[in-house]
Amino acid sequence: MIRLYEPADYDAVSAICTQTAEAGGDATGLYVSDELMPDAFVRPYVVYQPDLAFVVEDSEGVAGYIVGVEDTAAFTEWFRREWLPRAIAGRYEHTEPVVSKDDLIRHLAFWPERMLIAEVDEYPAHLHIDLLPRLQGAGWGRQLIETLADALRARGVPGLHLSMDAANTGARAFYDRLGFTELPSSTSEAPLLGLRL
Ligand SMILES: CC(C)(COP(=O)(O)OP(=O)(O)OC[C@H]1O[C@@H](n2cnc3c(N)ncnc32)[C@H](O)[C@@H]1OP(=O)(O)O)[C@@H](O)C(=O)NCCC(=O)NCCS
Repeated sequence: MIRLYEPADYDAVSAICTQTAEAGGDATGLYVSDELMPDAFVRPYVVYQPDLAFVVEDSEGVAGYIVGVEDTAAFTEWFRREWLPRAIAGRYEHTEPVVSKDDLIRHLAFWPERMLIAEVDEYPAHLHIDLLPRLQGAGWGRQLIETLADALRARGVPGLHLSMDAANTGARAFYDRLGFTELPSSTSEAPLLGLRL
């Protein structure tokens, strides 16, 4: 069953994020902290825009989510002003140069302006979606994207985008199947995909 995110789902969505963060596979123990991925890629979303966060729940509990923001530029500004001091700066070190994958994720967490892609006016919303293995391949991902797209359409948002890890070939096949197309500022290391709403 798909339902709107509730604050009690915070730990569940955080755990799902870590368990799917390595090109779709489990990233537990791979980074400086298992909290890093959720702090960068799911927690700010459910805090900032919980009305655009949806979860999938089965008899064992919450096992998947989609999170999104309708206005990436406003979210970037909030991330810099509120989230970075609250959840990133005191908790992680921002090391440069970027050598390891761990450095890279911290670098991204300390640099929200990376989200200001050239196509942000045409595709102002963006998303993250993750399902635990037990829910994958059964149509939940498609339903979650449709749920978020419907909510964005109802708000008059013209387009939705995402940035992904090029190594995640399964996710890329999924987005292609759902009609996402590669945007002009996409790069081979960080494919950028968009969907007109
Ligand atoms: C990627 C993910 C969100 C897809 O959700 P899903 O529920 O597994 O996908 P669905 O069952 O809804 O599939 C929808 C369509 O995409 C296709 N598809 C999904 N995964 C695919 C894959 N690995 N290879 C080829 N096609 C795929 C399906 O065949 C289906 O096509 P159809 O509806 O025409 O029959 C999910 O597998 C997942 O969370 N994976 C781990 C985390 C992750 O990679 N997140 C994305 C980070 S960018």
